Amino acid sequence: MIPSIPERAAPVLVADIVRGDSWQLPAELTIIVPTFNEARNVPLLVEALRSALGETRWEVIFVDDNSRDGTADRVRSLALQDPRVRVVHRYDRRGLASACVEGILASSSPYVAVMDGDMQHDETILLDMLGRLRRGDVDLVVGSRYVAGGGMGDWTKRRIAMSRFATLLANTLTKTAIGDPMSGFFMLTRDAFMASLPGLSSVGFKILLDIAASSPIPLRVAEVPFTFRTRQHGESKLDGLVLWEYVQLLLDKTLGHLVPIRLVSFALVGGSGVVVHFVVLTAVLEGLLAAFGARGESRWFAIAQAVATLVATSSNFFLNNILTYSDQRLKGRRLAWGWVTFNLVCGVGLFANVGIARWLYQRHNYLILSALAGIAVTTVWNYSMSSIFTWRKRR
Ligand code: GDD
Ligand code: MN
Repeated sequence: MIPSIPERAAPVLVADIVRGDSWQLPAELTIIVPTFNEARNVPLLVEALRSALGETRWEVIFVDDNSRDGTADRVRSLALQDPRVRVVHRYDRRGLASACVEGILASSSPYVAVMDGDMQHDETILLDMLGRLRRGDVDLVVGSRYVAGGGMGDWTKRRIAMSRFATLLANTLTKTAIGDPMSGFFMLTRDAFMASLPGLSSVGFKILLDIAASSPIPLRVAEVPFTFRTRQHGESKLDGLVLWEYVQLLLDKTLGHLVPIRLVSFALVGGSGVVVHFVVLTAVLEGLLAAFGARGESRWFAIAQAVATLVATSSNFFLNNILTYSDQRLKGRRLAWGWVTFNLVCGVGLFANVGIARWLYQRHNYLILSALAGIAVTTVWNYSMSSIFTWRKRR
């Protein structure tokens, strides 16, 4: 049976009973702000929230991925002046979506909002959004650039076109009826969030789409228009990788119940490795033949094959580190050690591949099927073993 989102009356908080200094009362609204190198924007945002939210009982949680510019420390110093300000400081992690999820889970208020930390989102619509949720007839309010009254600010034509295309794709594939599912600015009830939690993919940038597409029952949505402002300080973290993460999210939402999406990414990278292998093999073999002549050709082949294997495995390793494990990318010494373990894992995988393919071929004589079975088993082996030995989650 699908769990349903309980109907709720407006929540009663201590504050409705006890009157007092609003700072010491539990928050009704938690604003989650994912940050990565936003130190200079953080004080501006806190100040903006103070003036926009007035007497509302709010708190703000910055979820920072150990930014090098000291964002977390900046938040801490603000927190010492105002207990409504908190930080969740993550170490060795990256990812906007997962940051939002963890921030929401670290709070208790009945309503939660997510907004960017760079002043691009208009905090003056927060009260409007809260008002909509309090009425109880919607679960989610989206700050939208596309409904009447909203706007894209100073975005380039190219980015506007890309954003529109991504929106079309999302609405077709996930059947969520949100005008601006790419928005990073929204507010929802904790109950709605909790109902989506088990289904979340938490990859990449598109946390709103993720939440909406993971809800067991269609969310009741309202949209409030706003115009994107210009970033105050620093630069956007949106890059090519974000696009790939978006594809992963869509794949996960459409096929995720069949195969883990990391495995799909891993297999695609593996496919690229085959191409790399053949290119290197041909180049090295040609080179050796040109330099030393055709005598001893089988030895040259063995050398070329070994070089190609090493290069292809390394290329797979680095691509997986960027694309498949973008959220826990290895760096420095861990990168070197990861390369070693990955080669070991794949070395064993290669034996398994040849062994299984050969065994099948001897029995049934189907060349292609035997080869494919070998490849499939090895992919799964390499994937699961490298997730344990190479990209293991450290505690
Ligand atoms: N913790 C954490 N970890 N925060 C991050 C990370 C990360 O890996 N990457 C980005 N952020 C934070 C930024 O510091 C900022 O506060 C917010 O997430 C949005 O990042 P930006 O880099 O400013 O994104 P943008 O302005 O290009 O994109 C915005 O608009 C898009 C609309 O198409 C975001 O709101 C997107 O979510 C939104 O889809
Ligand atoms: Mn931004």
